[in-house]
Amino acid sequence: MNKKELVYEGKAKKIWATDDSNLYISEFKDDLTAFNGGKKSTEEGKGALNNKISTQLFKFLDKKGVPTHFVDMIDDNHMLHKKAEVILIEVIVRNIATGSLSRNLGIEDGKILPFTLVEFDYKDDELGDPKLNDQHCLILELVKDESELEYMRYMARKINRLLKDFYGSRNLTLVDFKLEFGRDNNNNIILIDELSPDNFRLWDSESGEKMDKDRFREGLGGLKVAYQEVLNRILGEDK
Ligand SMILES: Nc1ncnc2c1ncn2[C@@H]1O[C@H](COP(=O)(O)OP(=O)(O)OP(=O)(O)O)[C@@H](O)[C@H]1O
Ligand SMILES: [Mg+2]
Repeated sequence: MNKKELVYEGKAKKIWATDDSNLYISEFKDDLTAFNGGKKSTEEGKGALNNKISTQLFKFLDKKGVPTHFVDMIDDNHMLHKKAEVILIEVIVRNIATGSLSRNLGIEDGKILPFTLVEFDYKDDELGDPKLNDQHCLILELVKDESELEYMRYMARKINRLLKDFYGSRNLTLVDFKLEFGRDNNNNIILIDELSPDNFRLWDSESGEKMDKDRFREGLGGLKVAYQEVLNRILGEDK
């Protein structure tokens, strides 16, 4: 499958049209951004690591009955996937308080939440990705009706249960993550975008060491080493 015209260039990926009108190719870039584009950098090889990690996780979720856009990994930096109409809601799932949740609500960093929190943010960089409640989603017509919000919440919780166990058995604690959903050409809601440490907070279960994009956000260094370690553990090559 060949890349045709560029459909969209985002902060982390380029999206290409293909010969098949139902399929897109995502090209994973080495660029890193944080704080809504306020902090920028490039790490050679980061894109390939995210593509490989995403590929493994999409395959795992597909096997477990989660509908996703994934079709195939083409090469180190390219993934073939279904084209979708993006639902402009970032679905945030949190098991442990950290980052903006701790800052905004004064919850102690690292506190295990009494239940899994699912939040919706408006995927709009100009507005700074503000929080949405269900009524906001309906007023903005981001979904057809409340059942679609319920479905995304249900899928997000299911994905959380699956990935928490998956990572847990690899000595990684799934702290929180962001998901995106879209509509495929049959109008079904499917999981899209990427499943990488750019969008997931992962802590080493023993040392508590951060193994995700917080290494960049907080200037800790060693981002690529951490992402490679995540991939190794996913592939079962640790110890
Ligand atoms: N299957 C798909 N069909 C159509 N668009 C998709 C699909 N999967 C992901 N996308 C979209 O492609 C874009 C990928 O770009 P990228 O990951 O660089 O993100 P971004 O838009 O810059 O911003 P951010 O991830 O910070 O919100 C995103 O807008 C994402 O919603
Ligand atoms: Mg993105």
